[in-house]
Amino acid sequence: MPILHWLNRDESIKAATRVPYRLLEADPKLSYGDAATENMLIQGDNLHALKALLPYYAGKVKCIFIDPPYNTRSAFEHYEDNLEHTRWLEMMYPRLELLRELLAEDGSIWVTIDDNEAHYLKVIMDEIFGRKNFVANVVWQKKYSPQNDTKWLSDSHDHVLCYGKNKEVWRPNPLPRTDEMDGRYKNPDNDPRGVWKPVDFSVKTYSANSDYSIITPSGRVVNPPASRCWVTSEEKFNQLVADNRIWFGKEGKNVPALKKFLTEVKDGITAMTIWTYQEVGHNQDAKKEIKVFNNEYVFDTPKPENLMQRILQLATNLNDLVLDSFLGSGTTAAVAHKMGRRYIGIEMGNHARTHCHSRLQKVVDGEQGGISNDVNWQGGGSFRFYTLGEAVFNESGQITEGIRFEHLAAHIWFSETRTPLASKPTTSLLGMHNDVAYYLLYNGILGDKRPQGGNVLTSKVLAALPAHDGKKVIYGETSRLGATRLEEAQITFKQTPYDIRAR
Ligand SMILES: C[S@@+](CC[C@H](N)C(=O)[O-])C[C@H]1O[C@@H](n2cnc3c(N)ncnc32)[C@H](O)[C@@H]1O
Repeated sequence: MPILHWLNRDESIKAATRVPYRLLEADPKLSYGDAATENMLIQGDNLHALKALLPYYAGKVKCIFIDPPYNTRSAFEHYEDNLEHTRWLEMMYPRLELLRELLAEDGSIWVTIDDNEAHYLKVIMDEIFGRKNFVANVVWQKKYSPQNDTKWLSDSHDHVLCYGKNKEVWRPNPLPRTDEMDGRYKNPDNDPRGVWKPVDFSVKTYSANSDYSIITPSGRVVNPPASRCWVTSEEKFNQLVADNRIWFGKEGKNVPALKKFLTEVKDGITAMTIWTYQEVGHNQDAKKEIKVFNNEYVFDTPKPENLMQRILQLATNLNDLVLDSFLGSGTTAAVAHKMGRRYIGIEMGNHARTHCHSRLQKVVDGEQGGISNDVNWQGGGSFRFYTLGEAVFNESGQITEGIRFEHLAAHIWFSETRTPLASKPTTSLLGMHNDVAYYLLYNGILGDKRPQGGNVLTSKVLAALPAHDGKKVIYGETSRLGATRLEEAQITFKQTPYDIRAR
């Protein structure tokens, strides 16, 4: 497959691996509502934050939406958008790699971008997510009128690139029908089956069996239009007439039409790939929406809540996990919150506090802008605020002092299985994966079975471990069991920290 080359490409590809695993530190003062919430607002560079999330959320995110800097050379007050082309690719590549790992098998990723980088982005996303998983390039009409001072053409759309983690597994939800669509259904003949709409009874694909003359109730003879035939055979047509499913007009003399009942159409509609501003809002709508949250410093490039609602309608259901790692003014998190989805939002700038935090706080309190009316938002829920904490392993790969058992356990489990731990471990047995049991001896988890507080594998410690009759991987400071004993007990011993993949 052709791939894109840029200066430092090799370095960019390694960047995600090189960045250290860090802890996320909750800030109770900036958190709001019930402490048990899973909703996270993280302030920090997303390369670090995404890596920190991996051991806990790999393969768990149902929908990722990102709206990265477009690299458009405009001077933005709130963030550095003027990255050079190479630097932009260098920034995007490792982040997309981490995002892919976080995505669930039945999940999807959506990325907004304009003409400057859209086509380069498509090529790197094809490489990372697989060309076969490309779903669509949606065109969103972001402006409603031309910019007359533009030298060439006034750009009025953004691209929204959509990929499934596995396109064969991922399916979008249908969109809800609108009142306007339902309004096209009437009931001129008072049919007890309810409102219906007349649809063409002729088709282009010719079949001699469906080419016959029809006599209308008024006695007029009608034939299919030139080079077309009727939708059904004559026999089936007669059954439809008997079931009052053919409409010849009030006078009974029109060309026949098929009655399509509203009760028989699909509950929702299939989304198309052009989204107009009338359907999902435009840039100015978004600006108006966010002035409510911070009128002093109006964020430059927000997205409208309706656009986010459309994406979450297509890509998620109630309670699904949504991730936005370029959160900006917090639109994705606010919309996810109001739609009853769980969310993780990451923002590097101080507007994580000045915009996202205050916006989410107002949402919890029942804010009534954006999509609130549409989803009947009444307030409630909560979120936790986090910053990036220390690295789990230091530069030389040693475990950082003070790292708790549960955190090291999550990292070891992830490095072995590439999946997150199902729950916080309370014993040395972290869990089973492919019939192998994984154990960690660390921080005296066994309640001190000496030597070194139970962190060394001895016969006594082995006897105290939760039993598993099969293959075992045991992490500990060292092992005092000989090779034969280890083999007999089907144990692979791994030494902390040297055998842990710290990057
Ligand atoms: C176009 S804005 C997103 C706007 C957002 N969709 C909204 O509705 O408000 C891009 C955001 O990404 C943030 N950003 C850029 N690089 C980042 C990084 N490395 N880590 C975290 N955030 C970053 C910027 O600070 C900026 O707020």
